[in-house]
Amino acid sequence: MIRNSGAFPLLGMSKSRACTFGAVLLIWLCCSSLLVAAQDGITDPVEVVQGRMMTKCLNFAVKALQDIRNSLIDINKNLSNWRRGDPCTSNWTGVLCFNTTKEDAYLHVRELQLLNMNLSGTLSPSLGRLSYMEILDFMWNRITGSIPPEIGNIKSLKLLLLNGNQLTGPLPKELGYLPNLDRIQIDQNHISGPIPKSFAYLNSTKHFHMNNNSISGQIPAELSRLPKLVHILLDNNNLSGTLPPDLYKLPQLLILQLDNNHFDGSTIPPSYGNMTQLLKLSLRNCSLRGPMPDLSGIPNLGYLDLSFNQLAGPIPPNKLSENLTTIRLSNNNLNGTIPAYFSELPLLQLLSIANNSLSGSVPSTIWQTRTNRNEGLDLHFENNMLSNISGSTSLPQNVTLWLQGNPACSDSNIVKFCGSQNGDMDDQNTTESNVTCLTQSCPPPYENFKTSASSCFCAAPLIFEYRLKSPGFSNFIPYRVAFQEYLTSGLELYLYQLDLSSAAWEKGPRLKMQLKLFPDYVNGNSSHTFNDSEVRRIVSMFTGWNIPDSPIFGPYELLGINLLGPYADGLSPKPISVLSKIN
Ligand SMILES: *[C@@H]1O[C@H](CO)[C@@H](O)[C@H](O)[C@H]1NC(C)=O
Ligand SMILES: *[C@@H]1O[C@H](CO)[C@@H](O)[C@H](O)[C@H]1NC(C)=O
Ligand SMILES: *[C@@H]1O[C@H](CO)[C@@H](O)[C@H](O)[C@H]1NC(C)=O
Ligand SMILES: *[C@@H]1O[C@H](CO)[C@@H](O)[C@H](O)[C@H]1NC(C)=O
Ligand SMILES: *[C@@H]1O[C@H](CO)[C@@H](O)[C@H](O)[C@H]1NC(C)=O
Ligand SMILES: *[C@@H]1O[C@H](CO)[C@@H](O)[C@H](O)[C@H]1NC(C)=O
Ligand SMILES: *[C@@H]1O[C@H](CO)[C@@H](O)[C@H](O)[C@H]1NC(C)=O
Ligand SMILES: *[C@@H]1O[C@H](CO)[C@@H](O)[C@H](O)[C@H]1NC(C)=O
Ligand SMILES: *[C@@H]1O[C@H](CO)[C@@H](O)[C@H](O)[C@H]1NC(C)=O
Ligand SMILES: *[C@@H]1O[C@H](CO)[C@@H](O)[C@H](O)[C@H]1NC(C)=O
Ligand SMILES: *[C@@H]1O[C@H](CO)[C@@H](O)[C@H](O)[C@H]1NC(C)=O
Ligand SMILES: *[C@@H]1O[C@H](CO)[C@@H](O)[C@H](O)[C@H]1NC(C)=O
Repeated sequence: MIRNSGAFPLLGMSKSRACTFGAVLLIWLCCSSLLVAAQDGITDPVEVVQGRMMTKCLNFAVKALQDIRNSLIDINKNLSNWRRGDPCTSNWTGVLCFNTTKEDAYLHVRELQLLNMNLSGTLSPSLGRLSYMEILDFMWNRITGSIPPEIGNIKSLKLLLLNGNQLTGPLPKELGYLPNLDRIQIDQNHISGPIPKSFAYLNSTKHFHMNNNSISGQIPAELSRLPKLVHILLDNNNLSGTLPPDLYKLPQLLILQLDNNHFDGSTIPPSYGNMTQLLKLSLRNCSLRGPMPDLSGIPNLGYLDLSFNQLAGPIPPNKLSENLTTIRLSNNNLNGTIPAYFSELPLLQLLSIANNSLSGSVPSTIWQTRTNRNEGLDLHFENNMLSNISGSTSLPQNVTLWLQGNPACSDSNIVKFCGSQNGDMDDQNTTESNVTCLTQSCPPPYENFKTSASSCFCAAPLIFEYRLKSPGFSNFIPYRVAFQEYLTSGLELYLYQLDLSSAAWEKGPRLKMQLKLFPDYVNGNSSHTFNDSEVRRIVSMFTGWNIPDSPIFGPYELLGINLLGPYADGLSPKPISVLSKIN
């Protein structure tokens, strides 16, 4: 990721041809497209290189990146090396090129990786000239202005990563014509205006991450044609109108998260009960009315949040998926009784039906039938019309029940559940770092880590700031080990190479973590650092979204990469001298 790619297929070239090739590298950009437009009408790139057009072409080539840099404000001077030499073979921070030439015999930029550099200024329309680019990453900077429509020219673009900036203006309709776009992440900006109907052409796109903007208007019904869409995260916007009933036709949809929009008076289409792949449905605080739909036909539903709406009538009696960890139905106008099947959900961690008009008894089977006795269960039933508890009022360890504001509180056996509450279990943080290796000295940024139950090793970690953006659980403790296994196997590392040094819940809910990765330990013969190619590989697993998503952990965000000590020059690529490779 951080280094330029190394080897070029130059074997068998004569030295003079190689020199010419070196010159070709210098004009690595799409000169040919300039030349088609040029008055001179010279189109053969070989002639161009050797002839008088070369200077003009070179200027043009470097100009696209210079335009990009000139429209940015780079207070840290992270891009100060974007001046000398050739972008693909010198130290141009964040510029990664293909390691082979394309059909036009030039090298081309494959990735711009400029995350978390405190860049401000604007995005240059010249981005659209990097026409072979696959990853455009400006995440977590302070860039203002609007998204240039010219990005729609980059037909090869797979990842468009602009989240965490201060971008304004609308979503250009041109972005809909990116046939290879896998992922659009524009969340946490100030984007306004509607979702263009042209987004219905994004037929390779799997991930729509556009939460925390000011996107308005209706969700276009046309989006329900998208064959690959798996995640729709549009929470915290200004969307309105009705929920498109046809979204159930999305064949692969796993997560639909629309919290904090205002679909005034819209009902939840009954067809959403037909979203057979769905793992998570989150429609909190969306100004929704009407009945709660029957979602019992969604076999793997794991997380349901319909809280803070005006849903009325009963909770449908058909049993919901046994995979549910979280049911949030609080702050609606639901009436009727608590369904019996709430006692038959073995993975349940959080059930909130607070602030409704539910009546009848609280079935004690909800806690009495639990098999996972040590796992947490939070039951929020406050402010309803519940009259009593049917059965035992002694709760197992780690089950908490909140009943304040119900008629049942007049019973002296129950009043113990009627105190005021102190929030959801989301609030818990874990900072367990079970490393006790104090015997050996190990100067920072090196750290001791446990290679097994009884031994430690001193090595320099790669540190990633990471966040689960839409997790499928409410209590991380039972999933912690599974998470470590999931991540290390996704990264092709051993379990012991990961130290999950902290995990903290944030609004969303999201789960923010710091991940420390240590080099492989081979007895007696270990390196204290990752080698360059491992660093490159691991970083690109994160920055290229090559770690497969998991049903329970959901999509992740990369917030930052801390390359300390031996990795500190990691983001300024080492020069690759093509000519010296030949000599
Ligand atoms: C070129 O890069 C690809 C992946 O980006 C890699 O698999 C391949 O080995 C590289 N080729 C050379 C010659 O370095
Ligand atoms: C950018 O520059 C700052 C200040 O020199 C440095 O601390 C930081 O590591 C650099 N970031 C990257 C990604 O190169
Ligand atoms: C980013 O720039 C702003 C404005 O100059 C500054 O206040 C802030 O400390 C910088 N942050 C980092 C991480 O460099
Ligand atoms: C996506 O749409 C384009 C243009 O309509 C079409 O050529 C292409 O075959 C489609 N791809 C898929 C995977 O459906
Ligand atoms: C998204 O917006 C909500 C509501 O304004 C806010 O509470 C939350 O912190 C925001 N999330 C992020 C990640 O910015
Ligand atoms: C749900 O799917 C079934 C079978 O495909 C279909 O008969 C039914 O009409 C659908 N319901 C809704 C509300 O779309
Ligand atoms: C429950 O609410 C529905 C819709 O508001 C209403 O029609 C019904 O009469 C209520 N039932 C009871 C038992 O209150
Ligand atoms: C749902 O639960 C079943 C049975 O416990 C399990 O086999 C399946 O993998 C779960 N599905 C998901 C998506 O977690
Ligand atoms: C259960 O409670 C114990 C002690 O109260 C605590 O250490 C443990 O982490 C809890 N387990 C879960 C899954 O919350
Ligand atoms: C959890 O961690 C966050 C950030 O680290 C902090 O703001 C919050 O107060 C912590 N919550 C608890 C309950 O410790
Ligand atoms: C630390 O690890 C040891 C052995 O691996 C284990 O017995 C102990 O319970 C762990 N402590 C914590 C706080 O997890
Ligand atoms: C490239 O960067 C490395 C490390 O930052 C530095 O040692 C080297 O001199 C630079 N090379 C050029 C050509 O700028």
